[in-house]
Amino acid sequence: MKTILAVTSSPKSEGSVSNTLVEHFVQAWKDATPGAEVSHRNVGVNPLPHLDEATIGAIYTPEDVRSDAQRGLLAESDAVVEELEAADVIVIGAPMHNFSISSALKTWIDHAARVGRTFHYTAEGPEGQLKGKKVFVLTARGGNYGEGSPAHAMDHQTPYLKTVLGFLGLTDISFIHAEGVAQGQDGIDAAVLEIAASAPADMAA
Ligand SMILES: Cc1cc2nc3c(=O)[nH]c(=O)nc-3n(C[C@H](O)[C@H](O)[C@H](O)COP(=O)(O)O)c2cc1C
Repeated sequence: MKTILAVTSSPKSEGSVSNTLVEHFVQAWKDATPGAEVSHRNVGVNPLPHLDEATIGAIYTPEDVRSDAQRGLLAESDAVVEELEAADVIVIGAPMHNFSISSALKTWIDHAARVGRTFHYTAEGPEGQLKGKKVFVLTARGGNYGEGSPAHAMDHQTPYLKTVLGFLGLTDISFIHAEGVAQGQDGIDAAVLEIAASAPADMAA
């Protein structure tokens, strides 16, 4: 049985384009894979806490000597990591905020990137531990950032996510962008069609 983890990161509880794309994706995946298990984490509406000094101290304390207080501090962080480890397919809804990702998604990444758990250091350098999973990133942006567009170099969302997810071992990533949502519905419709056309075939593979 396949498990899909759906992460949404728009602060909007209604009318979010990226959330809508994730809903379309999950429906398409469920239709293509009967019995699929889906878990949801909405960090936009239920944000994780920023990493503070005590939490970072707990992360860098070896697991077998962590205090109860440190275990408590890491409980939600551990849940984030466990959800990632359990998933075969990860779909991430990513609104563009100020040419990058929302701060809520950044904080989720800060919790997901756990040394000794989702990545580790080897003699050859860092190695991601979340291997063999398929990732889809569904973005929503007010403007147009596609290849060849004047604003292409201002898209810090796509390269950042490729880098940080790749660092964790998540190297098989497909991006589907809803472009120009400030100008109308066309970019959203195109992304929905792309999701319907590509997701089930990819996921059946
Ligand atoms: C705080 C904020 C910052 C934004 N920054 C950008 C931006 O840098 N570039 C852009 O094209 N659109 C920007 N937008 C527009 C959003 O990308 C667009 O509204 C998108 O639909 C947001 O996704 P959501 O509907 O899932 O929340 C911004 C919107 C907000 C609320």
